[in-house]
Amino acid sequence: MTRLPPLGEIPADLVAACDYERYALPRLDGNALAYLQGGAGDELTCQANLQAWREWALLPRMLRDLRGGHTRCQLLGEALQHPILLAPIAYQQLFHSDGERASALAAGVMGGAAVLSSYASTRLEEVAEAAQGPLWFQLYWQGNGAATLALAQRAEAAGYRALVLTVDAPVSGVRNREQRAGFRLPAEIRAVNLDQAVQLPPLPEGGSALFDGLMAVAPRWQDVAWLCRHSRLPVLLKGILHAEDARLAVEAGAAGVIVSNHGGRVLDSQWPALRSLPAIRAELGRELAVLVDGGIRRGSDVFKALALGADAVLIGRPYIHALASAGALGVAHLLRLLREELEATMALCGCRDLASIGPEALQRA
Ligand code: LAC
Repeated sequence: MTRLPPLGEIPADLVAACDYERYALPRLDGNALAYLQGGAGDELTCQANLQAWREWALLPRMLRDLRGGHTRCQLLGEALQHPILLAPIAYQQLFHSDGERASALAAGVMGGAAVLSSYASTRLEEVAEAAQGPLWFQLYWQGNGAATLALAQRAEAAGYRALVLTVDAPVSGVRNREQRAGFRLPAEIRAVNLDQAVQLPPLPEGGSALFDGLMAVAPRWQDVAWLCRHSRLPVLLKGILHAEDARLAVEAGAAGVIVSNHGGRVLDSQWPALRSLPAIRAELGRELAVLVDGGIRRGSDVFKALALGADAVLIGRPYIHALASAGALGVAHLLRLLREELEATMALCGCRDLASIGPEALQRA
């Protein structure tokens, strides 16, 4: 099938955030589709993530005075126009030639923030130059503290304002769709910010490649505490689902957590992130940052996340659909649509600002 070129303008029938997937699919090659669309194993976690939002229904409130309403918020010291961040996604030049620069530009233009992946296909300094708003840097532990801190300090020097340490993917538990589909990273696309792959230790006689290899270079709680002590930037831990892990994250010095199951990409048959959110918020109190991602597709999902305790959300696949459809223009337009959907939900539920969105606005569906 011939791949369609990116759109130069936004079509008149592209009116909801969800509409972008339909435009993106004919613009992605088989490799890009294999990388983006699916999840781990039988995609049970992906389905659970999508389903979790449907388990809550909105309970609208009428006739309140909503003048002066807005979606502004403060997050780790940043003043943002809305609480919708771009999640870290690897290799964005697979999806559009402008890749990560386009996403970062769009996030900033729309008054929000973006998180750049360690596996970005564009140099982090170039992305920072293209950006017009706050950027955070996603870190994978680089096998040891010194290499991890060196990458974090490079991001800090380039102007990144927070670190997002992903802790839920030291190993992929099951074959992913991209592996099943024979995904190959094209020669011209690489993780250009990583100097070299993490070196695995020699396996002891009869040792396990997983437990004595990969897990020997995987981070532990003491490493998180070390990173938080040595980094000048606030550190969020991404991939937390258990309230006790949220408490350990904070004890280790994290500024907050991202409640996430990695968009269902790592371990199949997982609990949806949304269901962990209320308990994690209760564990951490109001002072620490709690974000959530996984299956957010519409403004009402953002509203539900905030009602159940999130300060902000991250979106993944939806913005890659917009990037593939129309580059930076598409991502900016998608963010506008999501924000408008959030505003409409707030207005119809009688909420003038994000602080007034609470659990009383939801009922079990
Ligand atoms: C993924 C890794 C790169 O989800 O975070 O593909």
